[in-house]
Amino acid sequence: MTLPKEPILIDIPMPIRTPRLMLRNVLPGDGAEMHEIKVESFDDLCKWMPWTKLGVGTVDDAEKVIRENHAKYILREDMMMAAFTHDGRLIAMCGLHRMDWEFRSFEIGYYVRSSDHNKGYATELANALTRFAFGALEARRVIICAATANAASRRVIEKLGYELESLVKADALLPDGTVTGHANYVRYDTNGLPNENVTWG
Ligand SMILES: CC(C)(COP(=O)(O)OP(=O)(O)OC[C@H]1O[C@@H](n2cnc3c(N)ncnc32)[C@H](O)[C@@H]1OP(=O)(O)O)[C@@H](O)C(=O)NCCC(=O)NCCS
Repeated sequence: MTLPKEPILIDIPMPIRTPRLMLRNVLPGDGAEMHEIKVESFDDLCKWMPWTKLGVGTVDDAEKVIRENHAKYILREDMMMAAFTHDGRLIAMCGLHRMDWEFRSFEIGYYVRSSDHNKGYATELANALTRFAFGALEARRVIICAATANAASRRVIEKLGYELESLVKADALLPDGTVTGHANYVRYDTNGLPNENVTWG
């Protein structure tokens, strides 16, 4: 381990670049574009994301979330990121969450703008975040969890060669109130991860 023990002293190399995307920590001012994605994608998000119960909200609500997460990033409490195409269009929100800096475990999360579904973007950004966690942040364990019936997300995770670690029958409510279980996937290294040219810093 070569990174400082104190999380706040860890320099996180940003941005992360992939063949089609640039990922970076969220910054004040991102709220308007994030709100636009939420409005466009709300029907899809409402199926799976618990925070949609708060409603679609306003630009100010989105900017508040962005600024709170900017602060959490500085404190190394969470790493919410925005993913842009190389022509500067925000197409996904993603990040590394629920980290344990001492053990060095991270959870990947993501959602993609509905009009850009099924173009491989989630697979590309999750591949990049996996490489980044192991390569830049010295991860020992990276997980991705999907509601059991979330076939698109599970397909993304399986395309990346994550191992199904547990299948929990019932552990949460979907936004519409129905009971769901979760498929919890893990990687302990990048072995066998599909090739992708990812750089950071
Ligand atoms: C899940 C999500 C992020 C996938 O993003 P994406 O950019 O469309 O993903 P990709 O294009 O990389 O891959 C999607 C894969 O799922 C498949 N897929 C899509 N809908 C599917 C469905 N209903 N059933 C089975 N497979 C499905 C696609 O065919 C594709 O697989 P393929 O490459 O083998 O054809 C996107 O659907 C989304 O934002 N959903 C709402 C939020 C969400 O569920 N977030 C994840 C929470 S764990």
